[in-house]
Amino acid sequence: MSQKKVENKIPIYKLKTTEEVMRYYDEWGEKNKYDQDMVAWNYTGPKETVNAFIKHAHNKKIKILDAGCGTGLVGIELKKYDYLDVDGFDLSKKLLNLVPQGYYQNLDRVDLNKPLKTGDNYYDAILCVGTFTFGHVKPHALNEFIRITKNKGLICFTINEGIYKEYGFDKKIKELSDNKQWEIKKFFKSDYIASKDVNAWLGIAEVIK
Ligand SMILES: C[S@@+](CC[C@H](N)C(=O)[O-])C[C@H]1O[C@@H](n2cnc3c(N)ncnc32)[C@H](O)[C@@H]1O
Repeated sequence: MSQKKVENKIPIYKLKTTEEVMRYYDEWGEKNKYDQDMVAWNYTGPKETVNAFIKHAHNKKIKILDAGCGTGLVGIELKKYDYLDVDGFDLSKKLLNLVPQGYYQNLDRVDLNKPLKTGDNYYDAILCVGTFTFGHVKPHALNEFIRITKNKGLICFTINEGIYKEYGFDKKIKELSDNKQWEIKKFFKSDYIASKDVNAWLGIAEVIK
C-alpha cells in the first residue's frame, strides 16, 4: 500500500527552521486565528491525548508539563478532569500570551530542541501534543523529557504520521525502550486532524530510572 502524503495538507508543514516556525505561529495567533482554525478543522489532538492520559494518571495532584502548549488547548482539557498543577513551555511568545488565565501555574518561552533548564526528576508527567511534527521538535527532545520526569512518571505524546519514520521517531522510541529508559504503555493511531486526513501516533510511556 502506498504511504499517505500529509506534508502538503497544512501550510505549517512546509517550514524548515525553528525561526520560521516561531514566526509562523506568532502570526497564526493574531486575532485568535490559531484557535479558530483548530475549531474549524475539528482538531482532536488535545482531547484524545488527555482522554488517554487520564486512564494512566490517577493522582490529580501531580506536577505536569505541557510541552509545546501553544494557546493552552491541552491545559483546558486537563482542567476538565481537575489536573491543576500544570506548567506550559512554548516557542511562540505570541501564543503564550493568548493562554487564558487559570489553567497553568507557569508559562515559559522555551525552545524544546535545546537542553532544558529544568532540573532532573521535576515533573510527574509531560504531555506533548501537536509538537512532534514537520520542522518542529525533533526526537532527541525525548531524552530531555525523560531527564526532567520522575521515575514512573508519564510521557504522553503525539507524532504526526508524516514524520514518524522520516525524522527517526520510530528508532528513538525503540532505542528508549531497548535501553529500558521507558516502557511504552499505549501506542495507537489517533484521529488528530481527521478532517484534513492527517492522523498522528499517540503514545504513553512510563519512565524507568
Ligand atoms: C500544532 S501546535 C500545538 C499546540 C498545542 N499543544 C495544541 O495542541 O494546540 C505546535 C506548537 O509547537 C510549538 N513549537 C514548535 N517548535 C517548537 C520548539 N522548538 N520549542 C517549543 N515549542 C515549539 C509551536 O509554537 C506551537 O505552539
